Amino acid sequence: YIPSLIAIVLSYLVGSLSFAVIVSKSLGMADPRSYGSKNPGATNVLRSGNKGAALATLLLDALKGWLPVFLIHHFGAGLGLGAGTAAVAGLAAFLGHLYPVFFGFQGGKGVATAAGALVGIEPLLGLATGVTWLIIAVFFRYSSLASIVAAFFAPAYYLIGGQIAWPLDLAVLLVLVSISLLLVWRHRENIRRLAAGTESRLGSKKT
Ligand code: G3P
Repeated sequence: YIPSLIAIVLSYLVGSLSFAVIVSKSLGMADPRSYGSKNPGATNVLRSGNKGAALATLLLDALKGWLPVFLIHHFGAGLGLGAGTAAVAGLAAFLGHLYPVFFGFQGGKGVATAAGALVGIEPLLGLATGVTWLIIAVFFRYSSLASIVAAFFAPAYYLIGGQIAWPLDLAVLLVLVSISLLLVWRHRENIRRLAAGTESRLGSKKT
């Protein structure tokens, strides 16, 4: 149990690196927690108008979800770490993003980090979920709506893929369902804004 515990704690710490804040600060930009939705995430950094900073945030936040899962998949077998532990490490990184120990536990909504973890768990699962996000984002122009819809589809895709492409693992399924539920919960203000018709569209600048 010790190696899994260490892996999970390290994943949480990596997840706690809030790249929206780190990237913004290192570029001399305003703290994303001070404008727009006040969320430290790529979508909100985009509202600053700096597309490069938003892309860097997206990639780094995704990387921190993917890396722990990937490392455990490829190098964990010798330590007795399997697919279940890899998925739990992805969940730990996701929780780090939501409740970062380095940033007063005031984190983001976890979309990019969850996407990275999904790619680590099963690349095809990440791809299917990412394409789902993209379709909703292109048609409706709401990042939040795309994230919420993708969160509903991810566990379903895992179950479907389990019949044809990969062995189903109950621990992995539980991790995916937990990530999706938490992700939707973190979007509760967005859901209120979507219902009220006041959610900001992708591409619109900060208010
Ligand atoms: O990345 C989170 C996204 O789904 C919504 O972000 O800033 O519009 O609340 P935001």
